[in-house]
Amino acid sequence: MVDRRPLIAGNWKMNFDHLRSIAFVQKLAWTLKDAKHSAASVEVAVFPPFTDIRSVQTVIESDRLEFAFGAQDLSPFDSGAHTGDISGEFLAKLGCRFVIVGHSERRQNHHEDDSVVSAKTLAALKHGLIPIVCVGETNEDLEKFGSSAVPVSQLRAVLDVLPKDSEIVVAYEPVWAIGSGQAATPLQAQEVCAALRAAIAETHGADLAAATRVLYGGSVKSTNVASFLREPDVDGALVGGASIDVDEFAKIVQFPKHVIA
Ligand code: 13P
Repeated sequence: MVDRRPLIAGNWKMNFDHLRSIAFVQKLAWTLKDAKHSAASVEVAVFPPFTDIRSVQTVIESDRLEFAFGAQDLSPFDSGAHTGDISGEFLAKLGCRFVIVGHSERRQNHHEDDSVVSAKTLAALKHGLIPIVCVGETNEDLEKFGSSAVPVSQLRAVLDVLPKDSEIVVAYEPVWAIGSGQAATPLQAQEVCAALRAAIAETHGADLAAATRVLYGGSVKSTNVASFLREPDVDGALVGGASIDVDEFAKIVQFPKHVIA
């Protein structure tokens, strides 16, 4: 059995300018240091807006903080006439380890379909970034098709083009749970995360499926995170709203210490 290091990822979305991002990362570091958090047991990553990444990189590298960081999106292209877009090459040069692709807010607000998400995934891998591929069903999808069908088909679109042995992270984020305060139940999350892992096994083999981290996202808080992480196929959390409250995010990171009733 492969040991998958849990990943707690904070997607800041469009919050914090670069000055606030510096203060946030420093405070998170002090809070976790005081709590004697072990980076070896839980990986922590933050996803600031593009304009903050250089500042976050500088704090993390100069203070030798044990956080990873990444971007919330990237262009499928390397360079050229793509006004407003950011290349994976630039993100890699800034030391990003991860990049989020296919977040439901990109799929909805920027009309990104499965083919765009697949192209972005390949662009991330090409530049040595680990893509966090987001999938998830809307309320309507849930009623029509149940919980796993849409997320699995979104992931299959990526798997269809994914080179074998690629390191990716998958994030199951039901659209109805994002920002709603209504998280999925741990059992619902487990079922879909297991189905996503099974899809990876089908196309890329049992070893990659066993090594790939599958996260849950959608109204994750310090009060529910441990119940998700207790599930065998949930390897971490992609946190939105609660990731921009430093005390709350630090508590989420320390989920192994939580006692579940
Ligand atoms: P919330 O945690 O605010 O529900 O957002 C989840 C999310 O979209 C993370 O990417």
